[in-house]
Amino acid sequence: MKIVIIGGTGLIGSKLAKALTSRGHTVVAAAPNTGVNTITGEGLAEALTDAQVVVDVANSPSFEDKAVLDFFQTSGSNLLAAEEAAGVQHHVALSVVGTERLQGSGYFRAKLAQEKLIRASTVPYTIVHSTQFFEFMGAIAKSAEKGEAIHLAPALMQPIASDDVAAALADIALSAPLGGTVEIAGPERVRMTAIVQRYLQLTGDPRAVVADPEALYFGVELNDESLVPAEGARIGTIGFETWFAQQRKPQ
Ligand SMILES: NC(=O)c1ccc[n+]([C@@H]2O[C@H](COP(=O)([O-])OP(=O)(O)OC[C@H]3O[C@@H](n4cnc5c(N)ncnc54)[C@H](OP(=O)(O)O)[C@@H]3O)[C@@H](O)[C@H]2O)c1
Repeated sequence: MKIVIIGGTGLIGSKLAKALTSRGHTVVAAAPNTGVNTITGEGLAEALTDAQVVVDVANSPSFEDKAVLDFFQTSGSNLLAAEEAAGVQHHVALSVVGTERLQGSGYFRAKLAQEKLIRASTVPYTIVHSTQFFEFMGAIAKSAEKGEAIHLAPALMQPIASDDVAAALADIALSAPLGGTVEIAGPERVRMTAIVQRYLQLTGDPRAVVADPEALYFGVELNDESLVPAEGARIGTIGFETWFAQQRKPQ
């Protein structure tokens, strides 16, 4: 099959491109620096010619409220229009577990807008809701810096390795469209304070994580249901400690 990965040079996109290529498919890793831009439309029609499946794992260069909404709306509508014209048979998009519960945040409003465009389009689709990637723990810590400490809500989360996300997306891209959403998550349910503290320890960062139930997560108050999937989610195999040990090994 010809499969186009929008954002095919990013963290998830590059791993997905490798996984699908090794299964014998023709993969186009589409991104501005490979000549495909979903905002300007550059190279989009050419990239989609004869494609059966499109996987959208692009991300906005800016997370500022208006910029991120503009990105996902413009990118989503240009992409879906081009897919309708090209006769694409399956649109797979990566979004976030709990997007609908996190609407106090501009980023999650933008992800919901992206999902609404997909549901309204005539292209058969599967939306994949993932929990936070292990690779995102540093960004969570950075977003919660307060003086010398990191202030985070002690909410439950179930983060996942990007390799498990790419493996799930590869299977889903090669399956029939669900016309709905599937959830994926990592093998361990942990408190955000504990896993971010462990990440800081492992990376030699001496700062302490302070548990503050009122601390906002990208502008949103969290509870123990906010970030975790419902029963029936596809569960990855790579735990946090194994993932971290793998980061140190040459690939
Ligand atoms: N971080 C998390 O914990 C998490 C959890 C669940 C879901 N997600 C979702 O996962 C998705 C992928 O995340 P990621 O971390 O893999 O992203 P990433 O590493 O930042 O990669 C983003 C990709 O999008 C491309 N891109 C940017 N602007 C584009 C445009 N105008 N046209 C085409 N491609 C464009 C980038 O290309 P250039 O490098 O050339 O700009 C890059 O290939 C996101 O949609 C995010 O919402 C993330």
